[in-house]
Amino acid sequence: MKRAIAIVLLAGAGLIPASLLAVAQNATPAYKPGLADLMTMTVQPRHIKLALAGHTKNWVYAKYELAELGDALARAAAVWPKYKGLPIGGMVDAIAKGPMAQVSAAIDGKDANGFAAAYGQLTEGCNACHQAANVGHVVIKVPARPGVSSFPDQDFNPNLKP
Ligand code: HEC
Repeated sequence: MKRAIAIVLLAGAGLIPASLLAVAQNATPAYKPGLADLMTMTVQPRHIKLALAGHTKNWVYAKYELAELGDALARAAAVWPKYKGLPIGGMVDAIAKGPMAQVSAAIDGKDANGFAAAYGQLTEGCNACHQAANVGHVVIKVPARPGVSSFPDQDFNPNLKP
């Protein structure tokens, strides 16, 4: 009880941020992942998995994961429509959609070389946005030889029967 009063007093004096106070009082603070969190959690792994799918020529899965990557970028833009004043949604459309359409066409054509080229452009799109958003230090690259051990509990073999 004494502790609770102390917390209220400190908060009143502005010494505890309101967000911490909510935790102290067992209220459930709304969790809003940052844009960098969403990039790390939802965009980056799918970018890697898409490379793995192309590497193993698992076109069915590649198609699925490309859509997931697009959705992940769209959701990040929906949660953070602006990043430091820059319109993220418009940038996703401008940069990612062109190369993503080309990746999609390569997947439809089961075209491994076309996939590699389009995937490279998609990756340049990641970096173009990072540079435009002044986070050019976040450098994304095509995984040189994507190792399936990146996701050791998932099988990328296209010949597996569902
Ligand atoms: C619409 C613009 C945009 C696009 C497209 C974009 N990003 Fe980002 N990304 C950002 C911004 C802005 C940040 C920095 C966010 C922050 O620091 O809060 C970021 C940060 C990141 C980070 C850093 C997170 C960390 O903690 O290391 C990674 C990784 C990342 N992006 C991966 C990707 C990949 C992979 C792609 C392409 C598939 C991509 N991003 C496409 C805007 C974009």
